[in-house]
Amino acid sequence: MVGQEHVVQALTNALVQQRLHHAYLFTGTRGVGKTTVSRILAKSLNCQGVDGQGGITAEPCGVCQACKDIDSGRFVDYTELDAASNRGVDEVQSLLEQAVYKPVQGRFKVFMIDEVHMLTNTAFNAMLKTLEEPPEYLKFVLATTDPQKVPVTVLSRCLQFNLRPMAPETVFEHLTQVLAKENLPAEPMALKLLSRAARGSMRDALSLTDQAIAFGSGQLQEATVRLMLGSVDRSHVLGLIDVSGHACR
Ligand SMILES: Nc1ncnc2c1ncn2[C@@H]1O[C@H](COP(=O)(O)OP(=O)(O)O)[C@@H](O)[C@H]1O
Ligand SMILES: [Mg+2]
Ligand SMILES: [Zn+2]
Repeated sequence: MVGQEHVVQALTNALVQQRLHHAYLFTGTRGVGKTTVSRILAKSLNCQGVDGQGGITAEPCGVCQACKDIDSGRFVDYTELDAASNRGVDEVQSLLEQAVYKPVQGRFKVFMIDEVHMLTNTAFNAMLKTLEEPPEYLKFVLATTDPQKVPVTVLSRCLQFNLRPMAPETVFEHLTQVLAKENLPAEPMALKLLSRAARGSMRDALSLTDQAIAFGSGQLQEATVRLMLGSVDRSHVLGLIDVSGHACR
């Protein structure tokens, strides 16, 4: 996870001091790390450590059964509900019915409700009570791209973190690292263009990079990335402005 230091720091402190809230709300545009941070939190709460003796940690090991199962979406105590396609009270109710059972595999159950603003009013009302006083083994993680549509009754019960759009420099550094790990050579200018085109979304940056690799038959070169993005060479544009004698904005 890169960027979002304010969120990482606050969660790290909470985990180290074991002062955990029972409901978190992560807001931010698409592809900035809401789902990612939710999974990291679930791992932090449930990590068993390399030796199987671990407790709650700010640095989940990534190799124990809990960490591996959360990463691969097979951890029975971590549930993601996509409210965009499960908006109704029935879906929420059947999730909440699970709340009465203690965790099977881990220390905590985590209910992640993505795009929570899409829930119907009845669905929101159905979850208020559990959201306010969940059993001690249950954590709620709500995520949304549109917090203004989340009722205040829900907002007031959550600790809210706003994930920021990713700066192009942050995206650039991350892409550079990811590609280095995969042994894929890339022209820095190609990555600069991709980082800017991602417009703050790391997901878009990664998928654009995938496309560019395919488009350039395995090569990440400035010229092909420019072609793919449909952008004109900057020096060319500056030249045009120069000729006409003024910049049009
Ligand atoms: N802050 C970040 N640092 C590193 N990778 C990120 C970050 N945010 C998003 N990503 C990557 O982008 C993809 C989508 O992220 P995700 O957490 O699902 O975004 P969101 O839930 O906010 O739409 C994932 O592959 C993830 O690895
Ligand atoms: Mg998501
Ligand atoms: Zn672990």
